[in-house]
Amino acid sequence: MCGIIGYVGNEECAPILLEGLRRLEYRGYDSAGVAVHDGTELRVLRAAGKLTALGDALARTPVHGTTGIGHTRWATHGKPSEHNAHPHVSGGIAVVHNGIIENHVELKQRLKAEGREFLSDTDTEIVAHLVDLATQRGLDLFEALRSALREIRGAYAIAVMSKSDPARIVLAKNASPLVVGIGDGVMLAASDVPALLSHTRDVIFLEDGEMAEITRAKVRLERVDGTRVDRAPVRITWSLMQAERGGYKHFMLKEIHEQPRALEDTLRGRVVLETGDFEAGEMGIGDDDAKTVKRVILLACGTSYHAALHGRYLLEGLARVPAVAELASEFRYRNPVVGPGDLVVAVSQSGETADTLAAAKEAKERGARILAVVNVQGSAIARMAHGTLYTHAGPEIGVASTKCFTAQLAALTMLSIYLGRRRGAVTREVGVALLAELVAVPNKMRDVLATARHIETVARSIMHARDALFLGRGLSSAVALEGALKLKEISYVHAEGYAGGEMKHGPLALVDRDMPVVCLLPSDSTLEKMQSNVQEVRARDGQVIAVVDDDKAAASLAAHTLKVPPTHEWFTPLLTSIPLQLLSYYVADLRGTDVDQPRNLAKTVTVE
Ligand code: AGP
Repeated sequence: MCGIIGYVGNEECAPILLEGLRRLEYRGYDSAGVAVHDGTELRVLRAAGKLTALGDALARTPVHGTTGIGHTRWATHGKPSEHNAHPHVSGGIAVVHNGIIENHVELKQRLKAEGREFLSDTDTEIVAHLVDLATQRGLDLFEALRSALREIRGAYAIAVMSKSDPARIVLAKNASPLVVGIGDGVMLAASDVPALLSHTRDVIFLEDGEMAEITRAKVRLERVDGTRVDRAPVRITWSLMQAERGGYKHFMLKEIHEQPRALEDTLRGRVVLETGDFEAGEMGIGDDDAKTVKRVILLACGTSYHAALHGRYLLEGLARVPAVAELASEFRYRNPVVGPGDLVVAVSQSGETADTLAAAKEAKERGARILAVVNVQGSAIARMAHGTLYTHAGPEIGVASTKCFTAQLAALTMLSIYLGRRRGAVTREVGVALLAELVAVPNKMRDVLATARHIETVARSIMHARDALFLGRGLSSAVALEGALKLKEISYVHAEGYAGGEMKHGPLALVDRDMPVVCLLPSDSTLEKMQSNVQEVRARDGQVIAVVDDDKAAASLAAHTLKVPPTHEWFTPLLTSIPLQLLSYYVADLRGTDVDQPRNLAKTVTVE
């Protein structure tokens, strides 16, 4: 997601800001900008594209000053472009922000009605206006930000500067990271530690609900409710490389651990708990469209195809609309029957996968409505679609998709409940109950992640296997396929994923004492049948690794159990995917493969 840097010191800050932003490049971005106080004015420079473009702009129009803020933007609201790049300015206020302001639509309407003019499509610009209005009421910068925070809802890390305050930056954090760096006569702020390390190793991590003010000599820390916070700085001992990965050994592991946040961000601002419904947002599917959809065709490749397979279950089960999932790479080769009345959902992390793009284009030419479920704003698939449902997982750097997969599952869940509510297949009462459970899932994900050490031990016991089998039925069948793909792509262990019912039709021949068989055994309607599969594997001495939400499910038959908390059966895959990702990760790491860049694979496949 976006990167923030702030500097209050004695040196020319533009190069320092640029260097700090370079250290945050790993977070992904599409545009960048800085605001520097030149002693009289706030000088703002922004550029679309890479930091070299911002560097060129600074070379053409140098800005001088010793206090400044900078930002790399990963678009969430509004296309990647110079006018949407941060900082956003209102009056004498400049703001950079990472996160999503949930109530931006209503606030923007109100501010427009009060005569405020907006120059961008972002949610962030609202913050600049709110702070500016509050300073006009006579509040100082810190209090003006506090007043703005009382009006906004959502996730944010915010840094604000004022024209009338040449050596002060005020900060706030809720659900997006922000850290203050304490130097000698110098204070900094950043989204992450790597941006600070060339200046200081003494840092204070802000907590949710906290604000800070930095000047050259002082850090002031408070909660938004006014309570004072005293927190001693901590000394960072990580290397720069470790710091970029948040202390994790690999980006993949970091991204696995980011899943609770990715899910929260994907749901944020869209869930309406009171009515058991979702906001349509930019999906472009009105009530009538939802009622008249005749069929949904989900198109995708690789991991996204596994999300699509699960989407088929959700769409048929919850929305009661006929649904099929198709490999985008095959779709065009069979002269598909597709046209008006079909909703084609193109599922893609990158939004650039050539096969998915080409298949969606073909469906569009034949008259189908296209909905893009993608993670990258303004990507090719998002641009060609009639509507978008963005997953807000943040940039995924490891080639093996993890947090984007579970965010896709969540997006397809939203789509299914949204369609189901309008088609009368999901009542208000059922919707309310489902959503109440869905918003509890991120914390249950955290519980699963807390078992990582145990999963590593299990990985150790299978690290020398040549082959592995993954079995799941019904709502767990796509998870089994994805579990096998994860293991093979990063550890190079040959792995097959099967619907449990298929085992006796062939793969059972492979099972012997050397074969780990990962069985998904959540307490749903398929449990008994899956238990029969477990018996069959055990009868051939296969080594069962059971993923359960109830210890009794695998009883004495499993060599190892990986436990997840119980949830509604529709949401179980959001939890059971995680132990499989961790298992693959640890097997690969123990075998010493290049986890983040597996051989022969690319993150985005832009050739057919
Ligand atoms: C998954 O770990 C792989 N990186 C791959 O299967 C990927 O999901 C596939 O190439 C599709 O990519 P997309 O989601 O960007 O369209």
